[in-house]
Amino acid sequence: MEFSVKNGSVEKQRTGCLVVGVYEPRRLSAAAEQLDKLSDGYLSALLRKGDLEGKAGQTLLLHNVPNVLADRVLLVGCGKERELTERQYKQTIQKMVQVIGDTGSTEASCFLTELHVKGRSIYWNVRFAIEAIHEQGYTYNDFKSVKPEVRRELRKIVFNVASRKELPLAEQALEHGKAITKGLFEAKNVANCPANVCNPKYLADLALSLAEQYSTVKTTIVDEAEMASLGMNAYLAVSRGSENPAYMSIIRYANHPDPKAKPIVLVGKGLTFDAGGLSLKPADGMDEMKYDMGGAASVLGAMKVIAELNLPLNVIGVLAGCENMIDGNAYRPGDILTTMSGLTVEVLNTDAEGRLVLCDALTYVECFDPELVIDVATLTGACVVALGHHNSGLISPNNTLANDLLSAAEQADDKAWRLPMGEEYQEQLKSNFADLANIGGRWGGAITAGVFLSNFSKKYTWAHLDIAGTAWKSGAAKGATGRPVPLLSQFLINKSGVCCKIVS
Ligand code: BES
Ligand code: MN
Ligand code: ZN
Repeated sequence: MEFSVKNGSVEKQRTGCLVVGVYEPRRLSAAAEQLDKLSDGYLSALLRKGDLEGKAGQTLLLHNVPNVLADRVLLVGCGKERELTERQYKQTIQKMVQVIGDTGSTEASCFLTELHVKGRSIYWNVRFAIEAIHEQGYTYNDFKSVKPEVRRELRKIVFNVASRKELPLAEQALEHGKAITKGLFEAKNVANCPANVCNPKYLADLALSLAEQYSTVKTTIVDEAEMASLGMNAYLAVSRGSENPAYMSIIRYANHPDPKAKPIVLVGKGLTFDAGGLSLKPADGMDEMKYDMGGAASVLGAMKVIAELNLPLNVIGVLAGCENMIDGNAYRPGDILTTMSGLTVEVLNTDAEGRLVLCDALTYVECFDPELVIDVATLTGACVVALGHHNSGLISPNNTLANDLLSAAEQADDKAWRLPMGEEYQEQLKSNFADLANIGGRWGGAITAGVFLSNFSKKYTWAHLDIAGTAWKSGAAKGATGRPVPLLSQFLINKSGVCCKIVS
């Protein structure tokens, strides 16, 4: 889909479909009002007859509206004007695309971007129109021999803004929205790809191909031999039960005006499949453990976004690719591993593998002398119990970084919620035989996992995002969400000093 922004007026729109909002009860939005004048009261007459109440989700498609140049006019119900929430706005946009999709219209001129969403700016309206349209239109059919036929006549949408003054903000929103949806697309595709295709090598190949697409990106790969020489024994132990060797991709994006500026480092858990190892997972829903590389997918997606936007930053994305399987050579409960940091870990459950891979990746990234490090991981079922599917879990000892991430989450509408940490939790990780155990007992599992990682990230400013509940959807709508690509992208946009006015 092609998007653009324009400061247009309704009477000049020679387009396939002109879209304006109607509030409940039967109240015309500003653009609808102009259209009504132009058509000598055609719209208000229809409303009086009761054809459209303006309730959220209602639509009315009109042809041959008097004096109007557009082939069609689509009225979209927006609910009560004062109650137009962000969610409602996005649904209204999605409804628009769905209804136009059933017509022969190839292009549309949308005035819904002029609606007032409480507390939000034109930047927000334009950017989230694009994100909502992406979300609705995304499908993953790479492995269907017969691709479901989708009729997609609609190819172009022009978003209108009420004044010329608003154009620069709308254009920035267009740029950001387009880049973020590209990142989301990349992240969703790789996450949805099955584990028999998307293995650690496949992840590494995607990391390499990103470097081919952007001159600002360079990728190198750390293989198992190099991991062994670095002493990354926890990472390697997890990988040992798999026929597919581990690869850790290092994606360097360098575009800071000061080339020596310390990098921001993103580390993604990239378990392309997590069977649980000898502490085998139950069969039910095990297929969804192909999504255990959602952290790596979102890091890859975020790297794509910043490369698209050419942000003036130095960022390093690390994809910690690995597979957790059962095998005669697999690591066992009771094994004691010496991590790259020197700390020893007693494995009490081979299904708590993400933290073992990440602890060595977190030690590895010390070599970049980072400004800060954020790891992103589908780390614990406990996080889903704590927060459900709507908020990612955030753990950080650093209030500034935590708050920056929470504001980015809020701005990007990719929510996160901070969980506590503290010495009490650290005590849950005591082992009789090693420095640490890899599990902390039943209670507070998302926190003890984060606290485990905190032992390996003491040398820099660090935060951890547990995306176990947010990276994919189960059930009928099973599929990757691409989260937290929007959160990470927003955080990096903010870091780059590019200001985007999200609130009105
Ligand atoms: N990848 C899983 C976490 C997970 C489980 C994410 C379900 C989403 C849905 C992780 O490797 C894992 O297995 N964690 C264990 C930890 C436990 C053994 C302490 C878990 O959450 O059960
Ligand atoms: Mn596991
Ligand atoms: Zn896992």
